[in-house]
Parts: sequence; structure tokens; C-alpha cells
Amino acid sequence: MNTTPRPLLCFGSPEMTDALPLELARHGRVVHDITASDDCVALPKQQDFSVGLVHLDESQLDPATLRRYLESLNELNRGGNQVKWVALVSNAAVASPPIARMITTYFYDYHTLPVDAERLSITLGHAYGMARIGCHSVRQAADRAMQFGMVGRSPGMRQLFGAIQKVGAIGLSVMIRGESGTGKELTAQAIHRLSPRADGPFVAVNCAALPKELIQTELFGHEKGSFTGADRRRVGRIEAAQNGTLFLDEIGDLPLDLQVNLLRFLQEKTIDRIGGSGPIALDVRVIAATHVDLEKAVEEGRFREDLYYQLNVLHLEMPALRERGEDIELLATHFLRETARAIRPNVKGFSEQALNAITTHPWPGNVREMINRIQRAVVMCEGDLIRPRDPGLDQDTPNCTLMRLAEARAKAEREVIETTLSAVSNNVSKAARRLDISRVTLYRLLEQHAIDWQKKGAG
Ligand SMILES: Nc1ncnc2c1ncn2[C@@H]1O[C@H](COP(=O)(O)OP(=O)(O)OP(=O)(O)O)[C@@H](O)[C@H]1O
Ligand SMILES: [Mg+2]
Repeated sequence: MNTTPRPLLCFGSPEMTDALPLELARHGRVVHDITASDDCVALPKQQDFSVGLVHLDESQLDPATLRRYLESLNELNRGGNQVKWVALVSNAAVASPPIARMITTYFYDYHTLPVDAERLSITLGHAYGMARIGCHSVRQAADRAMQFGMVGRSPGMRQLFGAIQKVGAIGLSVMIRGESGTGKELTAQAIHRLSPRADGPFVAVNCAALPKELIQTELFGHEKGSFTGADRRRVGRIEAAQNGTLFLDEIGDLPLDLQVNLLRFLQEKTIDRIGGSGPIALDVRVIAATHVDLEKAVEEGRFREDLYYQLNVLHLEMPALRERGEDIELLATHFLRETARAIRPNVKGFSEQALNAITTHPWPGNVREMINRIQRAVVMCEGDLIRPRDPGLDQDTPNCTLMRLAEARAKAEREVIETTLSAVSNNVSKAARRLDISRVTLYRLLEQHAIDWQKKGAG
């Protein structure tokens, strides 16, 4: 048993918190009582709590008040780290549907009263362990995200992060390839930030979005009076990137005549403004991006081969979203937090069914599609958890194999749970032990499969 004192947030009725410290102190824990709402806000600021014990006493606190407390405490968790809550409840309280629902939604585990210090200590030990694992991986992912400005820990993204770090240090041109909306621009920004040019400007130009007749002046600039309408001097985007990085998005759409000018700039490190009196020396690193097959464009004569080689000194491939299995949940949670913070702070997360729908959805490759769906989900969400219908994932016809597998799993899961419950006369604790899962997980599954165990008998 771990005897290192660890801070434990203890939140509940005075009788309960009076009884607890002594019991738990024997197990080497420091206990903080919180009975007033003011304390509840002040305490977590002073210490990092990873585990909280809450006495869910239906006679003292109504579920709505308790839920508000829990949400405000969760808000206070720093570094994206979530407190693992353990509920202390009477057997009668577990049978109350609002409290049972609350436990399954917010709690890591629960302990029925009276307190059995030995057993509670084991439960708390597990909660500390889970918090430590979760906190570690969330922090690691968050640190990486801070460094690269991107979310992801799949093998494809880890490989990309390594490559960004390498090419960031070198001043050569980079070509980024990848499907639309996979993060090419974010990658270019990360390369810039990790390069010795980080203090210089990052200038992005989308070659596909500029009208053909404006690209020359947009990129290279012009002098006053150099053509009709040029009533003042204009500094081009390449010059604006002096001592920094120029990001040329959709490079495949650059017209052939401008490809010649760009090539000259890359080789000679100088540009000529339209109507200018001579070349201007520049120190600019170029990063180009494309979602089209440039080799094919070269073969077909739409893209200059010499420019292709000049730009393609270093190249990075963006993994498509469909290849980033474990990132799907991370990305979805990241976009949910961002959107909720901006427009609906009361939306707290995904229901288990919604998360399941999101992680099994056959995302074609585009992160933007995911952002759109999550934004829509936050707007449509009626409570504080997103349901599958909110992001519009309930009517999808996903990939047949995935669907059949998911259906088969759900059916098998339901059958096993029902059979086990019936074998132990619907005693949930016994059923959880037989199934080798925690009771909280079992409650979640009962809710997910709409198994009305209470009708069948109390557990
Ligand atoms: N790994 C990621 N983490 C967080 N946000 C991401 C990630 N990848 C993409 N995004 C977001 O997805 C959107 C599209 O990213 P970005 O513009 O970098 O993609 P792109 O490949 O340049 O797209 P396009 O081909 O349409 O120009 C942006 O809002 C970006 O912030
Ligand atoms: Mg882009």
C-alpha cells in the first residue's frame, strides 16, 4: 500500500468530513475539507488535486447543486488534467436514478457507506494511479501540441513532428504534400517557429486564390507609376518575408510564366519589382505546399521540372486523418474544447455513444470536416454532453465492415451483461466483479445498452 501523503480533496457534509480525515490519515493522506462553496473555489488553486472524494448526500445537497460544484472544480484543473472523483454514497442513494446517472457521468468510482477505510484506500489508490497515467499522457500530448501547434500522437504525426524538428533547423526549401485540410499550413508555421528565422515574418500566399493577373505584383511588388493604376509603390509578399519564411500554398496552381520568376528568385536570391530599377537582395526561406500530384503536373508540362527540384529539396508528407486512428479522439476533444470555450462553455464533452460514433466514423482525410461537425455539434447540443445526432453521425452509412463489427460487439456485450446480471440475481457489484470491470463502467454500459437492471432487482 502506498503511504506517501497525497492531497485529497474532500467535499461533503460536515459529519462525513469530520469522520474521514482520521480514517484516511492512517493511510498516509492529507485531507482537505470543503463544505462551503468559497473554499471549493479557493483550495484547488493552492494545490494540484488529482483525486477528489465527494459525499453525495441527497438530503444535504440536491444533484443540480452538486453538479455545479463538480463542474466548477473541473474548470479549475490546470494543464487539461482531470480530477478523478470518487463518490461516497449510501445504498439508497445509488438506487436513486439522478444520483446513479451523476455517478456514471462524472465519477471514476464510488464507495458505499459506511466507510471501510481499507477498501476506500484501495479505491483511492487506483484513482491516483489513473490520474497519474491520464495526466501524463494529456500533458505529453499538450506539450507537443504547444511546441508544434498541432494535436496528435499517432505514429504518422510523431514521424511528422520529428521531421519538422529536423527541417526547421536547416534553411533549405521544403515541399509539404498532403490532402486538403490535413494541416499543411500548420506544419509550415511549425517549421518556421522552430527555425532560426522564428523572429522574422511568416508570410502565407495561396497561389490558387489569387487572380492570375495579380500574382506577379502580389509576389514581387511594383514601383509607383509602373503601370496604369499603380499610384503608389507596393512591396510584394516575397519582400515582406525578408529574414523570415514565405509559404506558397497550392504551388501547383502558379502560372508557368510566374514559375520562371520564382525559380530565378530561388536561384539568385533577388527579386525585381515591376518597374523597379534593379534587383533587390533578399534572405527568405520558401516552404511550398500542394495537394496535387506535382510529378504528374511536371510530366504533363504544367509545372517546370527545374522549379520542382528547386522546391523539393526537403519534403514532408501529411498523414490523412483516416490514417491517424488514435488522434481522432484527441482532435475531436481539442476542437470541442475550443468551440465550447468560444460559444457554449456549458458543453462539457461527448457522451460515450457520441465518442464511439466519432471514433468509428470513416473520416475521409480532412480535419476541416471534423471541425465543422464538432462546431455543429456544440451548437445543436441540448445538455452538457454531445449526443451522436449533434454532429450528424447517427444517420451516416459508415463503412460496412466497421458497422457490422460495431453491431456485433454491442450485441455480444449486451448479452454477456444480461446473462451475468441474471446469474447473480441482478447484483451489480457481483456482476461487475464477474465481468472484471468497475461498477462505474458497468453502470455506464447498463445505461448505454438501456438495460433496466433496477426493474429486475437492486444490486
Ligand atoms: N493536427 C492538428 N491539430 C489541430 N488542428 C489541426 C490539425 N490539423 C489541422 N488542423 C486544423 O484544420 C484546419 C486545416 O488545417 P490547414 O489549413 O493547416 O490544412 P491545409 O492542409 O493547409 O488545408 P488546405 O489544403 O485546405 O489548404 C485548420 O483550422 C487547422 O487549425
Ligand atoms: Mg492550406
